[in-house]
This record gives sequence, C-alpha cells and structure tokens, in this order.
Amino acid sequence: MQRVSKLTQHLSAQAAHEATSDRVERAETAAKVFQDKSRDAYKLDGSNLFSLRGKVALVTGGSKGIGKMIASGFVANGAKVYICSRKADLCDEVAAELCKEAEEYGNGGSAVSLPGDLSSVQGVERVAKRLAELESELHILVNNAGATWGAPFEEYPDSAWQKVMDLNVRHLFNLTQKCAPLLGKAAREGDPARVVNIASVDGIRATQTAGPTAAFAYTTSKGAVVHLTKALSRAMVPYYTTVNCVAPGVFPSQMTKFMLNSEAGSEASAANNPLKRVGRTADMAGTLLYLCSPAGAYTNGVTIAVDGGGHLFGDLGFKLDYEKKK
Ligand SMILES: NC(=O)c1ccc[n+]([C@@H]2O[C@H](COP(=O)([O-])OP(=O)(O)OC[C@H]3O[C@@H](n4cnc5c(N)ncnc54)[C@H](OP(=O)(O)O)[C@@H]3O)[C@@H](O)[C@H]2O)c1
Repeated sequence: MQRVSKLTQHLSAQAAHEATSDRVERAETAAKVFQDKSRDAYKLDGSNLFSLRGKVALVTGGSKGIGKMIASGFVANGAKVYICSRKADLCDEVAAELCKEAEEYGNGGSAVSLPGDLSSVQGVERVAKRLAELESELHILVNNAGATWGAPFEEYPDSAWQKVMDLNVRHLFNLTQKCAPLLGKAAREGDPARVVNIASVDGIRATQTAGPTAAFAYTTSKGAVVHLTKALSRAMVPYYTTVNCVAPGVFPSQMTKFMLNSEAGSEASAANNPLKRVGRTADMAGTLLYLCSPAGAYTNGVTIAVDGGGHLFGDLGFKLDYEKKK
C-alpha cells in the first residue's frame, strides 16, 4: 500500500512537471490504474488476457511472410496495425485485406499502409516521422523486416555483409531508437509498451554454412539481434518498454521459397523437425500475441524459439554436403 501511494505521489509529482496537458492526463491515468486493484490483475479469460484492443502497432515487413502472419494476429485481436515495407502497392493491398478480416473478427482491429525503406538512416527517419505525425502513442513495435544472402563460403561476397547487417541489425536499432519516445508515451504502469525483434533459430545455432545457400552474414546478423535484444531491453527501461526476441524456425515465405517450393524440400524441412512440420500462421501470431498482450507484460529480455524444438536437433533441412577441398 505504501509502495502504491509512493508511486502515486511520484507519478503526480512527475505529472506536475510535465509540460503538456496530454502528458499530465496520462500520468494521472497511470496513477489511477495502479491504485485500481481490479486493473492490477487482468481478467484471466483469453479475450482479456490476450487482447490488443486499443493498441497501436508497427510491424516492419508486415506485407509478407512472417510479418503478415504477425499483423493478421494483431488485427484479429483488436490492434490498429501499420504495415511497413518497401512496396507501397503491396502494403495498401495487405492493409485492405486485413481490414476486411478485422470486420469478420469484430474486435475493433484495423490495418494501415505505411510504406518505407528501412535499409537506410533516411528511410528509417521518414517512417518514424510519418508515424509520429499519425499517432501520439505506439504500443508495439515489431522489428521483423529482414534480408538474407546465400553463397558458398569461398564465394561469399563482401557486399552481402553491409546489406544484411544494415537492415537486420543496424536499422533495427535505429528504428527502435527513433520510436522510443512514442513507445514511452504508450506505456502504462502494469502495461509496458513492447518491442519484439524477429531473429532466427540461426541466431542461436549457426547451421546455414554449407552449399550455395550458406548465409554467413544472415546467421551473424541474427545472433546479433538476439544479443541486441538484451542490450535494448536494458536501454528501454526509462521508456517502460519491454524488448523481447522471437527466433523462428522454418516458416513459408518469400525468404524460404528456395527450400519449400519443391516437394522434396518441403518434405525434408518437415522430416527434420521434431513435430514433423514447418511453422504456421497461428504459431507465429500466437507467440507475438502473448508477448504483446497483458499475458506477456512481465516477460522482458528473452528470446523464444518458435521452431517446434528444431534448434535442439540437426539442421534446418539442408543436407550436410561438405566436400573435402583439395
Ligand atoms: N521464413 C522463415 O522461415 C524465417 C525463419 C527465421 C527467421 N525469419 C525472419 O523473419 C523475418 C521475416 O522474414 P520472412 O521469411 O517473412 O521474409 P519475406 O517473406 O522475404 O518478407 C520480408 C518482409 O520484409 C520487407 N522488407 C525487406 N526489405 C525491406 C526494407 N529494406 N525496408 C522495409 N521492408 C523490407 C519485405 O517487403 P518488401 O520487399 O516490399 O520491402 C517483406 O514484407 C526476417 O527478419 C527473417 O530473417 C524468417
């Protein structure tokens, strides 16, 4: 009780120093929420515990593959989701498609197209600025946009490093930094804002090292994302924002077409997995929903592998075809 009143005093004092009436209102609301014991413990039925009603989310790379799976899950559960990727037409198309789906779910979700190229500082700044013009708060940032480059070890090009590390690591950091003020504004006592970084099981164990699709820069970038998640979760404490990481196994997407577009490739990927299949939309949407809803409010700084346990076994379905070099 003493702690509650101390916090209330702290928030009121903080509120008194806030310059704008908007901030005063938010601080007062946060204090009230903390005093209200019924809000201290969320109702435990799924429609409350996993709800995203009223939340604003930005999903980078939300127009395809894993990003679209995440955006679909968010919209179905009440969030307003900004879809950001380079191809404006596709962002528009996917936003319209998800709005239609949202009507069917009836939870108040929606999707908005926010095209942008996140491979440069200028591109990142443009997206963050546009978002700040459109929204006063951002509850959820999903750093999902990513790229890979495959080539045999001996031929692996230097240029791949910059392309892959820039998008997967450097600008993931830059976008998070630029969105931090908006995330901080959305955070409420007991309901922090959320950042989720999409790494890969390849960031936990480096298996894509053989054959023409060896992905040295990718594997390294994803290891960096796992590590950066911990650093960011410390840095975001003043913004009352959790930072977690998801490490997917094999999911159908543009990026995995080279593995899954043949029957043999699909079968091998499934056969190598303990659960004998590749990932599905519900696997990814469910994990992100957990991390970003009230259910995940106390989970911070962790990496969750969503791969059916594949990281505990063999490789991703590639044959180990090492040949002895002369
Ligand atoms: N699929 C898997 O099995 C798997 C496994 C482990 C990890 N992952 C990770 O999951 C994330 C999503 O991958 P995915 O498999 O869904 O790939 P994907 O189908 O290739 O989708 C990538 C998304 O990122 C966007 N994107 C690419 N470059 C961008 C840029 N410069 N600026 C803004 N957006 C950009 C793409 O749209 P535009 O091309 O229109 O920009 C697309 O929406 C990646 O970080 C990937 O490393 C995937």
